[in-house]
Amino acid sequence: MAKRIVVLISGSGSNLQAIMDAISADRIQGHISAVISNRPGVFGLERAEKANIATEVLDHKAFESREAFDAALAELIDSYSPDLVVLAGFMRILTAEFVRHYQGRMLNIHPSLLPKYKGLNTHQRALDAGDSEHGCTVHFVTEELDGGPLAVQGAVSIDAEDTAESLQQKVHKVEHQIYPLAVELFCADRLQWSEQGVSLDGSPLSSSGYRYNG
Ligand code: GRF
Repeated sequence: MAKRIVVLISGSGSNLQAIMDAISADRIQGHISAVISNRPGVFGLERAEKANIATEVLDHKAFESREAFDAALAELIDSYSPDLVVLAGFMRILTAEFVRHYQGRMLNIHPSLLPKYKGLNTHQRALDAGDSEHGCTVHFVTEELDGGPLAVQGAVSIDAEDTAESLQQKVHKVEHQIYPLAVELFCADRLQWSEQGVSLDGSPLSSSGYRYNG
């Protein structure tokens, strides 16, 4: 059965676009029921409207507390009864209660080879550390920021001439490959997170997840 997906965004939504494209190409056994943004007027909302996907704006600034916003957000998400919630550049720290409610059915993408470089400025930090490799990770979301179990990773090489900007561009390209892949695997019931950990096709994945090699 096709899975119902809700995507949360705060910005340009290029990862949202990559997932929409994979759905249009019949790669993903699912459809996007709604795209929800915490920021009005962002380009990701336009992308969704163009594809005739329902859009919602829930502006966090209109709420008195993080808890109140997250409660309203969960109510809005749940009105679409999603099987999967996809965080695609959703720039909010989420409360533990919210995260627990979607445990095992909420994915995020982070621009580093986790567990390296949780948080911000990941490209500069990889450069400053003299790393030869960098990349991005799709992971299940837990209460620990950027700390949930890893599902899919994709790497890029760091070359002598790379800057934070050039690395960001390289990593973004890989994001657009691994996020649709992770959603595809989840929607086909091939990728799961249970008490035994993350598994792919019934076999446990290593702690660094499935390594995507293009
Ligand atoms: C991506 O770099 C992702 O890793 C981070 O936010 C950015 C979202 O980009 N979590 P976009 O809105 O999908 O273009």
